[in-house]
Amino acid sequence: MEAIDVITAKRDGGELTRDQIRWVVDAYTRGEVAEEQMAALSMAVVWRGMTRAEVSEWTRAMLDSGQRLDFTGLARPTTDKHSTGGVGDKITLPLTPTVAACGAAVPQLSGRGLGHTGGTLDKLESVPGWRADLTPEQMLEQLVTAGCAVCAAGPDLAPADRKLYALRDVTGTVESIPLIAASIMSKKLAEGTSSLVLDVKVGSGAFMKDAASARELAETMVAIGTDHGVRTRALLTAMDTPLGRRVGNALEVAEAVEVLSGGGPDDVVELTVELAREMLRAAGLSGGTDPADALRDGSAMESWRRMVAAQGGDPDAALPVAAEQRDILSPATGTLTRLDAYAVGFAAWRLGAGRARKEDAVSPGAGVELHAKPGEPVRAGRPLFTLHTDDPARFDRAAEVLADSFSLDGPERRLPLVVDRIG
Ligand code: URA
Repeated sequence: MEAIDVITAKRDGGELTRDQIRWVVDAYTRGEVAEEQMAALSMAVVWRGMTRAEVSEWTRAMLDSGQRLDFTGLARPTTDKHSTGGVGDKITLPLTPTVAACGAAVPQLSGRGLGHTGGTLDKLESVPGWRADLTPEQMLEQLVTAGCAVCAAGPDLAPADRKLYALRDVTGTVESIPLIAASIMSKKLAEGTSSLVLDVKVGSGAFMKDAASARELAETMVAIGTDHGVRTRALLTAMDTPLGRRVGNALEVAEAVEVLSGGGPDDVVELTVELAREMLRAAGLSGGTDPADALRDGSAMESWRRMVAAQGGDPDAALPVAAEQRDILSPATGTLTRLDAYAVGFAAWRLGAGRARKEDAVSPGAGVELHAKPGEPVRAGRPLFTLHTDDPARFDRAAEVLADSFSLDGPERRLPLVVDRIG
């Protein structure tokens, strides 16, 4: 087979065959299809799209490029969640131990933040001693002893996606629903879970800015999961405004611990409980302990402590705090009617919470604290935001981004927390 034939077939709007897809993904992973050829094929997919059969086969080819974890021997059913990423999205932290406390095993492979969205591993690494790397054997052992593990994907999981994602990132070919869906699902299927709940974010702080494209991404991923024998559902959830009241690594861990202690912001609690119920339903465990009870009765917290300790972390240690803080005051008295997720995420990034390049380090204490959420009253001269950073030269650049991030009064435009359910 020749790469040029596969590229021109897609360029001209044709449907690729199973053999073409398997060959091109495999040959690319082995270095036999050149980077420029795969870039051309990716761009043809951006323009021409893929059928359900093509996207399912593309996912299978990427999945088969590496190892697939196997947790079928566990006594508990496995279930997992994947979020497409947002601002203040610390939900994995309270959710994973809560679902484990309700009887499922949760093998959660997570990522690091890039750009304005945070990453679960960066957040957890602000817990002193905690480490993200587990071998498949350590992961299995932890699922038996603690019921859950949050860790980094090893290099053997979907290596084709690892190589292709790096190429898409520099060739303007990330923004393709079939390529995004296949990329996410190849990694999730490689993780070996038997059921999966997708949290597809919609709004300014999300990959998908409008509900129609978020719905299309969710439907594509649910179809891929179903084609591969994994019970898959999706929730479309709001990312027009940040989740919770803290954005930044250690700041978000502290908020997650509040939720695990039975408190915390309403939206974080509500989304944790909604997603936990979906995961338990998908795992065939609804009707047992309710996640809201597990948060109230301390069992979710116990599960969190076991999980953190199993990965070398000290759940009682003080979290890192940034060297400097500065308040931004409200210019008027009124009601906060809009708080833009993207701007808050970008400000946190400018304060040092995120990275510009993969190899950069993040500042664990950096980020933004929100003193009001949309719908709440604010008073002139009182703090609207507190900025946290280790480098005071960053304050002005973050404040500049936040200047237009909010509105006081006027019509309230807010998405419902759960916009839709699919699957
Ligand atoms: N996240 C992924 O894992 N892959 C994509 O293509 C986009 C977001």
